[in-house]
Amino acid sequence: MNTTSDVNSIDSLWMRAERVPLARIPTPIESCSYQFGTNRLFIKRDDLTDCPMSGNKIRKLEYLVGEALMQNCDTLVTCGGVQSNHARATAIVARRLGFGCVLVLSGDEPGESDGNLLLAKMSGADIRIHPDASSEVRSDRMHCIADDLRQLGRRPYVMTSGGSDEVGVLGYVSAAQELAGDLANVAPNVSTVVVPLGSGGTYVGMLLGARLFGLNVNVIGATVDGTPDTWRPKVTDYLNRSIARWQFDISINDLSIELIPAVGKGYALSSEAEIQFITEFAGQTGIFLDPVYTGKTLYAFDRAFKDGQIKTEGDVLFIHTGGLFGLFPKKELINQFLHKT
Ligand SMILES: Cc1ncc(COP(=O)(O)O)c(C=O)c1O
Repeated sequence: MNTTSDVNSIDSLWMRAERVPLARIPTPIESCSYQFGTNRLFIKRDDLTDCPMSGNKIRKLEYLVGEALMQNCDTLVTCGGVQSNHARATAIVARRLGFGCVLVLSGDEPGESDGNLLLAKMSGADIRIHPDASSEVRSDRMHCIADDLRQLGRRPYVMTSGGSDEVGVLGYVSAAQELAGDLANVAPNVSTVVVPLGSGGTYVGMLLGARLFGLNVNVIGATVDGTPDTWRPKVTDYLNRSIARWQFDISINDLSIELIPAVGKGYALSSEAEIQFITEFAGQTGIFLDPVYTGKTLYAFDRAFKDGQIKTEGDVLFIHTGGLFGLFPKKELINQFLHKT
């Protein structure tokens, strides 16, 4: 339950944090024909925050862009893989709001752009692709670019990969507040909330928000890049930084970090079983999961549930964080699977 001081600190939080409304929220919550045993599956459709500015990134960008404006910045600089949803969303938001935009992307430049990269290019972002750049190299590159921009009289705002910092986290603290209303009205028996964990902001925000808004649920993060063991200390650190920055009246000991492995063959690498799951899920429900985040997450949760590693008393709520455009660069794999069936 909320304590009075929790509520006070939250009220003052929304006054202290700048937010630019970008997302079409509240997003719908739907009951799904897919079930986990006798437990129902609900899906919160954060893939519908807006198209093509869709997905979880838009909720984070509302606060990140708010901070950028507060700091009087005029250029958004961020990074990710070549098919980064966050980079694509940032490029579009920048174009819509009149910011400049520089994206530092790692991976191989495809002969022909597809998916998120295609949309980011079409949005006019300045794109710098570095094959094999580690997250440290990308971060260094961003800061060098920011220095260059300052020399030119620009005012850059540098965002971490996935927009997962103490500002971006507010997107999912506020999503948890929205979810509290959804659960009370539509899905009162939900006891488990599942989200993908890629750069951490969605999971950490939801975990904090669930506590702040008194949601009686376990929040499970499915690690789609790295493992639960590598993520646990990073999640703890991120929670601590967020609690300190916004002075949340909660102790880290009150939070239960529950993570399941979902990376499979590797970040953004798809197994045939994952592709089969995504394809069958679309065929059964009419809802498209992406191969990098949401598909791996629900597939891993499904496996863990069927193997008895996860038990849930009540219904399950999955936050569909978007990623639709990531399906298209995987079209060959999907086609191979479709031809087999
Ligand atoms: C579609 C999609 N879902 C989930 C995630 C994971 O969210 P987070 O980075 O907040 O952990 C990402 C990005 O990493 C994403 O692009």
